Amino acid sequence: MNHLIDILTFTVEEINQLINTSLDIIENPEKYSEKCKGKKIATLFFEPSTRTRLSFEAAMLELGGSVLGFSEASSSSASKGETVSDTAQVVGCYADIIAMRHPKEGAPYAASLHSPVPIINAGDGGHNHPTQTLADLLTIKREKGRLDNLTIGFCGDLKFGRTVHSLLQAMCRYENIKFVFISPDELKIPDYLRQDVLDKKGIPYVETANLEDVLPQLDILYMTRVQQERFFNEADYIRLKDSYILTAEKMTLAKPDMAVLHPLPRVNEIAVEVDQDPRACYFKQVMNGKIIRMALIMKLLEVE
Ligand code: CP
Repeated sequence: MNHLIDILTFTVEEINQLINTSLDIIENPEKYSEKCKGKKIATLFFEPSTRTRLSFEAAMLELGGSVLGFSEASSSSASKGETVSDTAQVVGCYADIIAMRHPKEGAPYAASLHSPVPIINAGDGGHNHPTQTLADLLTIKREKGRLDNLTIGFCGDLKFGRTVHSLLQAMCRYENIKFVFISPDELKIPDYLRQDVLDKKGIPYVETANLEDVLPQLDILYMTRVQQERFFNEADYIRLKDSYILTAEKMTLAKPDMAVLHPLPRVNEIAVEVDQDPRACYFKQVMNGKIIRMALIMKLLEVE
């Protein structure tokens, strides 16, 4: 059974294939309009979402398939104590593929162990978000023309930001990648990524608290929101939430072709004035997310 639990499930070659299929979908959308006719995706979202859930649903509809699911745990039998494993086995009787988001790290993996249909991790706690990474990779490829030879700055909540964790692991597999981690001390990347991924592979990186100092070096600036829902202490969230705000003035320090990415939702960390800057790519990222999820659904369902 094919599942997508973390981004390293796929080889670089498989990711290249997904990107190539996405580029073909953009050029020839009509070719794909009935690829999943008769197929159903279930979106099981135990945690809020706008983009991921709706883009999976839009992706399946654009492939000619159908959708079912729920958007909050309280409207499912999880509220009566049903496990994610049982839920997946039940929903596998109704749908051909499942996209699952859950606040607990590892829940989609647990669901995949006995699922009769492919499980896609649509975000598990502060851990991973592999399909956001696919959207990010397609965006970087389209904007920069390459996935290697890049200096990538991650800014904001690098501790709880699951999109950062997944994209970092994905980018480590390309040549000549340098990372710049910009965060307050309390929100630095987790030790397991620093030690088990970056240090082990000898990937160059610097950590800093100052965005302005490093902006001129960056090819990509990946902004993130401070993840209020993962904090145990409201006072800490309030103290840290506005640590970084990207403004039009700060953008004058950046390279003329730097790409600004953000998985969204944004709160305060990118001023609305930056949206007019041609380097702002976060709404393009949203569209790319729907397209590469179409490619992903076809891959996991083994559609020709
Ligand atoms: N990027 C992302 O995961 O957005 P949602 O939480 O709206 O799905």
